[in-house]
Amino acid sequence: MTSEAFKISNPQDDSSTELPLVDGTLGTPGVDVRGLNTKQGVFTYDPAFTATCSCKSDITFIDGENGILMYRGYPVDQLAEHSSYLEVCYLLLNGELPNATEMEDFRHAITHHTMLNESLVKFYDGFHYDAHPMAILTGIVGSLSAFYHDTTDIRNPEHREIFAHRMIAKMPTIAAAAYKHSIGQPKIGPKNHLDYAANFLRMCFAVPAEEYEVDPVAAKALDVLFILHADHEQNASTSTVRMAGSTGANPYAAISSGIAALWGPAHGGANEAVLNMLNQIGDVSQVPKYLEKAKDKNDPFRLMGFGHRVYKNFDPRAKIIRGYCHEVLEHYGMQNNKLFELALELERIALEDDYFVERKLYPNVDFYSGIIYQALGIPVNMFTPMFAIARTVGWAAHWSEMMADPGMRIARPRQVYTGYKLRDYVDINNR
Ligand code: CMC
Repeated sequence: MTSEAFKISNPQDDSSTELPLVDGTLGTPGVDVRGLNTKQGVFTYDPAFTATCSCKSDITFIDGENGILMYRGYPVDQLAEHSSYLEVCYLLLNGELPNATEMEDFRHAITHHTMLNESLVKFYDGFHYDAHPMAILTGIVGSLSAFYHDTTDIRNPEHREIFAHRMIAKMPTIAAAAYKHSIGQPKIGPKNHLDYAANFLRMCFAVPAEEYEVDPVAAKALDVLFILHADHEQNASTSTVRMAGSTGANPYAAISSGIAALWGPAHGGANEAVLNMLNQIGDVSQVPKYLEKAKDKNDPFRLMGFGHRVYKNFDPRAKIIRGYCHEVLEHYGMQNNKLFELALELERIALEDDYFVERKLYPNVDFYSGIIYQALGIPVNMFTPMFAIARTVGWAAHWSEMMADPGMRIARPRQVYTGYKLRDYVDINNR
């Protein structure tokens, strides 16, 4: 905390209160308003948390104006170019890039936690074949809290580490099994010689009757997408995990609440919504009509995959993935595919349109990720589970950081009450 203070004046009685400033290493400082209520008798009011820091964190830095995203100080574009998803997981969890031995140990730990308990596998049969994979993911991950009682002492750093390893390792297996369940195919178990993304592709697309060769272009694109989605500081799902975790809840249950928050179309559900929107638009000739609908305040239609709460100039993840998107389309000879042509035309026109330019609404990471997933043959309802797999490390890292903080307290916001004032109970016969 700096010695500087922030002065707040109360016009009602001309008094003022000095509130301490909380400085980080980079970015906008916060004002510590915790004393405001006792000193001035008011709360702060910030619905949707557009101006509120809920915690201090060492993990990820975002500069929304300049389109900067860094994990533990490393720019995400450098990590996407030189690193791998598993190395990024180690970095996010531990704060430093691993040396060769640390990396090998970490890879071994993740690889050897990928299988699911057979009792857990039986849970899939309780889901109807057409259940959304995100519903299955929420249920199965929540059910992990019914296992591992001997290693869920949330105050024990070793237990927290085992939890993080288990979550990162099992998420691809859980998500792939949800997909296999939905199409009625046998679940395919993990293969230890494959890397993280390749293993996931195999568990999704292999069948027992045939050999399956993982396409290295697909595995590389997926690995980069996982890196770009690995963490994003206090986004809605991470804040949900932190909030649930702040009660001392079982960590697997806390992750399940994060998965539920991710599902919404304003957050992780956007990648699925982009593809549904492109199918709805249907043809390049319809783009102007849908742009008008997106601008019309009386029309609920929004251009999915455009805009971001924090990035107001460009989404650095979108910039990186746009290049991969074109590469993947070329690799699969899909540049002339009607849906992709439509996406590129939508991107071109929206980037020139005054409404979108004035509001700084640019294509975000999920505009392109949906297109890449589609090109890789991943079914649309699996797009958000892909996001969940990648973000698991972010959730685990934030949960662990919070748990290690001796000052952690239950997260409990207040409200401005707008309901009835005091009134007396009326007997049912007199209402
Ligand atoms: N299409 C049309 N208009 C939009 C859009 C859009 N996609 N996004 C924002 N606007 C307008 C909005 O109507 C408002 O206009 P006005 O100032 O005239 O009232 C203005 O732009 C500001 O929007 P907002 O809703 O106040 O911004 P927000 O920060 O609350 O919402 C958002 C951010 C991402 C939820 C929103 O832009 C959106 O719904 N985008 C589409 C969904 C999407 O792609 N989400 C994925 C985000 S990236 C993945 C992740 O990190 O989760």
